[in-house]
Amino acid sequence: AKLLVLHGPNLNLLGTREPGVYGHTTLDQIDGDLESRARAAGYDFDSLQSNAEHELVDRIQAARTDGTRFIVINPAAFTHTSVAIRDALAAVAVPFIEVHLSNPHAREPFRHTSYFSDLAVGVVAGFGADSYRYALDAALARLDQH
Ligand code: DQA
Repeated sequence: AKLLVLHGPNLNLLGTREPGVYGHTTLDQIDGDLESRARAAGYDFDSLQSNAEHELVDRIQAARTDGTRFIVINPAAFTHTSVAIRDALAAVAVPFIEVHLSNPHAREPFRHTSYFSDLAVGVVAGFGADSYRYALDAALARLDQH
């Protein structure tokens, strides 16, 4: 059984991108931490960062048949724009948690809507890089119940 972590556009720049908003932790550090936690719990792990909407759609479609049991996704700016990524998640019907480093509700009004939250098992936002860890722990707890 596999856990899949997806990161949307500009998250490849974490560590140097607006550190006042997003912190100093790099994406490699986040993925490394998540991978060791998932593997310690007995799950395979895969992650993808992409700046391209279609690559995220393709990876979600592949999750239908590659053994993925749970998805943790930070859609980044696509949170507020992408019907296509939302539809892909609905199509594969793999449970997912939506993650944000910042708290979008405390920011500009255009960040207050999400195309994902109503389909998500839950949303973790506002805890910096720790948001991912809390989401992964919640995913593992959920998988243990089923
Ligand atoms: C983000 C919040 C989004 O509004 C923004 O476009 C991002 C990152 C976050 O993790 O806080 O790129 O998803």
